[in-house]
Amino acid sequence: MTTMIEFQNVSRIYKSGKNELKALDDLSLKIDKGEFVVILGPSGAGKSTLLNLLGGLDTATSGKIIVDGENIVNYDDNQLTKYRAKHVGFIFQFYNLIPNLTSKENVELMMDITDKKIDGDKILNSVGLKNHANQFPAQLSGGEQQRVSIARALAKEPTMLLCDEPTGALDSDTGVLILSLLQNMCHEKNTTVVIVTHNSNLAAAADKLIRIKNGRIESIIINETPLDVNEIEW
Ligand SMILES: Nc1ncnc2c1ncn2[C@@H]1O[C@H](COP(=O)(O)OP(=O)(O)OP(=O)(O)O)[C@@H](O)[C@H]1O
Ligand SMILES: [Mg+2]
Repeated sequence: MTTMIEFQNVSRIYKSGKNELKALDDLSLKIDKGEFVVILGPSGAGKSTLLNLLGGLDTATSGKIIVDGENIVNYDDNQLTKYRAKHVGFIFQFYNLIPNLTSKENVELMMDITDKKIDGDKILNSVGLKNHANQFPAQLSGGEQQRVSIARALAKEPTMLLCDEPTGALDSDTGVLILSLLQNMCHEKNTTVVIVTHNSNLAAAADKLIRIKNGRIESIIINETPLDVNEIEW
């Protein structure tokens, strides 16, 4: 296994007046290439902060975040933009699709930030949306919209997929479908997938389970026999 991501003593401190809030507090962890990682922890624990730092959407106060051999913490805006374009696919709780573009257009939009030619129909087909390419987001169900946002994240073939409560807005059956899709991407394309969730059932499917509390690691468990998402009793 090759290490893809390493946090070394990372802190993210928010200051307001005299108060300091340590959203992440001297946190260290490692994630391998192609690992399916689940992050659990109570509200306010620092999960989204961790994901945003890793995705280059926010900057650490101290520590090192090494991705694919490079420390991204001191990157300037220009370097961060390139980093995000090359490495990061983001999937959020709410789908962040552009309402006046069709599914296919939302996916092909990614061509603006990558050099690759993107075949929207082909990628939509891979997430089971072959027949929905020309619909607008408002004409799709929640699960379908989330699949478009996954297709969009996959379109640029990122080295990692960062998912912040990707099933939070979905019913449980549709949620399982989405998680299964993410696990398949991980296994088939060796994409590193990091999922923040409140659903502790997903722990059984993780290659690595990271629990966070008060901005610190509570535990890291490596699962030698992860279940297929479809084998879990939800
Ligand atoms: N921009 C900000 N300014 C000040 N404090 C912030 C900011 N963003 C997050 N925080 C604080 O940092 C802490 C961690 O927030 P974070 O969003 O990472 O939690 P979380 O684990 O994702 O929680 P949830 O499960 O509710 O989404 C919280 O106490 C939050 O209030
Ligand atoms: Mg959050």
